Amino acid sequence: MSKTITFHDHHPQIQSLKSAVIAGLSKPNKSIPPKYFYDERGSKLFAEICEQPEYYPPNIERALLSKITEEIFHLTGTNRLIIEPGAGSATKIRILLDPLKPSAYLPMDISCEYLRSSAAEIADDFPWLPVHAVCVDFTHSIPLPDTAPKGHRMAFFPGSSIGNFTPHEARSFLEMVRQTLSPGGLLLIGVDTKKPADILNAAYNDAAGITAAFNLNLLHRIRDEVKADCNPENFEHLAFYNQTLGRIEMHLISRCRQTLHLSDYQFQLEEGESIHTENSYKYTPDEFIDLATQAGLQPVQHWLDDQKLFALYLLQA
Ligand SMILES: C[S@@+](CC[C@H](N)C(=O)[O-])C[C@H]1O[C@@H](n2cnc3c(N)ncnc32)[C@H](O)[C@@H]1O
Repeated sequence: MSKTITFHDHHPQIQSLKSAVIAGLSKPNKSIPPKYFYDERGSKLFAEICEQPEYYPPNIERALLSKITEEIFHLTGTNRLIIEPGAGSATKIRILLDPLKPSAYLPMDISCEYLRSSAAEIADDFPWLPVHAVCVDFTHSIPLPDTAPKGHRMAFFPGSSIGNFTPHEARSFLEMVRQTLSPGGLLLIGVDTKKPADILNAAYNDAAGITAAFNLNLLHRIRDEVKADCNPENFEHLAFYNQTLGRIEMHLISRCRQTLHLSDYQFQLEEGESIHTENSYKYTPDEFIDLATQAGLQPVQHWLDDQKLFALYLLQA
């Protein structure tokens, strides 16, 4: 069967990295949004994180997806247009493609070159499946290309990427997904659960140092792409579970007093000062269902693994 693959580049980040760095480093509590982790190297490092023994979510989510595929099939049927914001390596969707026989698959990601190659691999491995890849920043829009078929839609948002938003932002994002789906559309979403801090702290501090390299990659981008005179070796990775706020926090900690120069700007960092780079909020099932409902998505079914480490929710717009 002949295969269809199209690529739509919405040029999500060329100018925005520099302005995000200037805005983020100008704040009293310095921070840069996590979407800037993902250039091609960042995406590869994230794929490596997913292979670390301490980082439990991917294996558990994949096993859960495999276990419940038939139930999902009975609830969704076939022939839906599957949209995956933040598809990355697009590995988890592979579990669902043959059983759900979508009319087309639309992987979307901010990391263009990485998306190009993962979309091409999907098109090679599933030649019957039209693939329409969209390079876009999904915090702004979820654009469906004109070339995509019409019909019932389903969004797939695994990997607990929803946890990178604050709960308020997560609600807005879910509302945007609901609007993209149209009434009756479905969202299958993977969400990390609240659990003892030692499991969470280990997951974001793998012994091989891959999460640290991923976090520090942001500084490589700031040095190489934005041309700031920053030395990644002057920073260290810090990740911990903030029990009060129910979130993992990742920071880059300045090892010394230093000044970063970027165009006409200068940013002073004290020894021990942080640049906050990521949050990963964890949700109990009740908390997440409440959030989804507030966004106008009705719970259809949800599933947890035996140890209740990770959850998948099917929601209807
Ligand atoms: C945590 S990874 C999850 C990848 C994959 N969904 C999974 O479950 O393994 C987040 C993915 O979302 C992408 N991403 C992050 N922020 C984004 C944004 N604002 N717009 C589009 N893609 C984004 C990253 O490039 C990365 O591929």
